[in-house]
Amino acid sequence: MTQDELKQAVAKAAADYVAANVPPGSIVGVGTGSTANFFIDELAKIKDRVAATVASSEATKKRLEGHGIKVLDLNEVSRMPVYVDGADEITAKLEMVKGGGGALTREKIVAAVADRFVCVCDQSKLVGTLGSFPLPVEVIPMARAYVAREVEKLGGQPKLREGFVTDNGNLILDVHGLAITDPAGFETRLNQIVGVVTNGLFACRGADLLLLATPDGVRSMTR
Ligand code: 5RP
Repeated sequence: MTQDELKQAVAKAAADYVAANVPPGSIVGVGTGSTANFFIDELAKIKDRVAATVASSEATKKRLEGHGIKVLDLNEVSRMPVYVDGADEITAKLEMVKGGGGALTREKIVAAVADRFVCVCDQSKLVGTLGSFPLPVEVIPMARAYVAREVEKLGGQPKLREGFVTDNGNLILDVHGLAITDPAGFETRLNQIVGVVTNGLFACRGADLLLLATPDGVRSMTR
């Protein structure tokens, strides 16, 4: 199976999960990236079961609306049973690195409101230790150089994502050279650097369910 076929399979499994577990008329949080895009296309097939969605990026909002799916501002929503999104890396403890698409801050905010985070990945994303994928850190533009120096003190090699501005008008430093043994501690430590908006570690609030696509089928994993 190709990687796209695996993503397609896991996206279908996530839509089945929504249809089976989310009360009709609920609001669903939707992530960003190629796997999330496959999920949006599957969600479109069951859109009558969903009252509306909340999008984690402008790109996701556009794709949802393109399917005729209603998208709400998060401030209008107090209850969301599920958030579905991909990841760049995930461990068996369901701690993740996210933000390859640069949407990490909105993803973390929408996930915070949801009761459950369902992560959808192909098997290449499952790792023993987080950090081989460069860790994205969203920074306020005037703090870019300061944050880079502070990240170096923590052992990382930050690299500005050239030509990229987030939906929030900020910059991304991709931090190379990490082997993250304490994901929740490192997530908290990075967020204490003044000028950091947030970082792509999702460990303090990890996923609740991983749907992992393998050539033998979609596996369900919980913590
Ligand atoms: C975007 C993300 C994505 O979930 C992550 O990059 C995985 O993307 P893909 O499904 O394309 O592999 O965090 O900010």
